[in-house]
Amino acid sequence: MSTYAILTSGGDSPGMNCAIRAFTRTLIYSGHNVFGVKKGYQGLISGDFIQLSASSVGNILQRGGTFLQSSRSEEFKEKKFREIAYEKLKEHKIDGLAVVGGDGSFKGAYALWEDFNFPVVGIPGTIDNDISGTDYTIGHDTAVQTAVDAVDKIRDTAFSHDRVFLIEVMGRRSSSIAIKTALCSGAENVVLPNKDIDYEDLVQSIKRGEQRGKKGSIFIVAEGATEGRSYNIQKVLSSKYGISSRVCILGHIQRGGSPSPHDRLIATEMGFLAAETFLKFDEPKVIRLKNGKISTALLSQCLTNDDGIDIEHIEVIKKISI
Ligand code: F6P
Repeated sequence: MSTYAILTSGGDSPGMNCAIRAFTRTLIYSGHNVFGVKKGYQGLISGDFIQLSASSVGNILQRGGTFLQSSRSEEFKEKKFREIAYEKLKEHKIDGLAVVGGDGSFKGAYALWEDFNFPVVGIPGTIDNDISGTDYTIGHDTAVQTAVDAVDKIRDTAFSHDRVFLIEVMGRRSSSIAIKTALCSGAENVVLPNKDIDYEDLVQSIKRGEQRGKKGSIFIVAEGATEGRSYNIQKVLSSKYGISSRVCILGHIQRGGSPSPHDRLIATEMGFLAAETFLKFDEPKVIRLKNGKISTALLSQCLTNDDGIDIEHIEVIKKISI
């Protein structure tokens, strides 16, 4: 009988609970013990462990957020704190740790392996869908659904008032939510993170729409490095082009809510495979979705950010928003 642990780290995402549940029950089914670590790597450092049972992970799969809670631990980036965390893992006789999170969380897991040879498996969980090596991260589908629902509502008022709206979605370094939301809501244009803003192009989209009697225009803005970027765009549109607009920042509403069936399915499959991966552990892996199938990849190949710019989708937005 072995003992494993699971934590959720970084920004929470809908479906994390499904992954925890599947991971825990798969290992318990095979006769192993499972601990949950509270508040991500911070809880690992402070030794905040709770033993999980089949019942304690019951009735959580439909809930957003993570019942283990999460954190963005700056301390864990320092080796002296990782040493403390490693001692806590040993105290609890943990044989392997599953980490649900983004590329930053995976770097933390990989450091545990490099420093102490401690077995780790990563499960991609972030609404941003921006980890290299996997086509999908848990929570993305639900976040896009939330954003599209919101844009549909704003479209009603944009039409009623002939207004231009700048709707800001999450994605500090990722374009995925912005591009999919723009496509699914029929937005007139999309502004990507870390890219120069092409104001002439934005203005052209408005003018084109006006010429064929369109009432209102919607631009989806990826937040980029700082939330509130849309207010700068609003100022320039007004001062340089005389165009008035309204800003709506969707913010953390995109991180919450009950996971979609797609997220429940992928998270459950990923949690299941993470547990099975520990049972025949050789080296750190990430559970990923690749070419429509859940499989494993080396953790070392999934430590970077993939900003999710899909050139083909941008082309589609451009052509069908005429
Ligand atoms: O978890 C990803 C994410 O939601 C990004 O889209 C966003 O830029 C960031 O986290 C916000 O982080 P926080 O909630 O910690 O401010």
